[in-house]
Amino acid sequence: MKCKMLPVTLASLLFAGIGSAVADSHGMTAMQLAEEKKCTACHAVNESDGMSVVPAFKSIAQRYPMEEFDRLVQVVLTGGQDHWGHTEMPDMGVRSDVSPADAEKLVNWILEMDE
Ligand code: HEC
Repeated sequence: MKCKMLPVTLASLLFAGIGSAVADSHGMTAMQLAEEKKCTACHAVNESDGMSVVPAFKSIAQRYPMEEFDRLVQVVLTGGQDHWGHTEMPDMGVRSDVSPADAEKLVNWILEMDE
């Protein structure tokens, strides 16, 4: 890669666009929510920016169909492990609190990245 900043810039432009399509009544996009809730402190959006121990949101989207929606909302709320390796996604309390509505919004946003 010639310029390290370029893919990051492209990704943020792209996802700012997608995020604005699903802006909720508070006007916060899913991407902004993911940043505020510190999801992006661990998760990359694209595999190419990836930190290997934590799955990128795009990889999660490619792996799971919409039928996994409810289970993934539970993971966002209570944490999970052993699906991607041995690194645990911690329970809330360790990370920022997420409401069930926020968790649904985030999981929906993640799963739609596969389309
Ligand atoms: C402290 C680091 C960390 C934070 C913060 C974090 N995650 Fe995760 N997340 C992980 C790890 C590690 C895994 C892999 C767990 C596994 O293997 O089952 C994971 C897995 C997931 C999965 C897939 C679960 C599965 O069963 O495959 C989803 C969806 C997810 N995270 C969403 C989120 C969202 C949304 C947020 C923000 C509210 C978030 N994560 C915050 C570390 C984190």
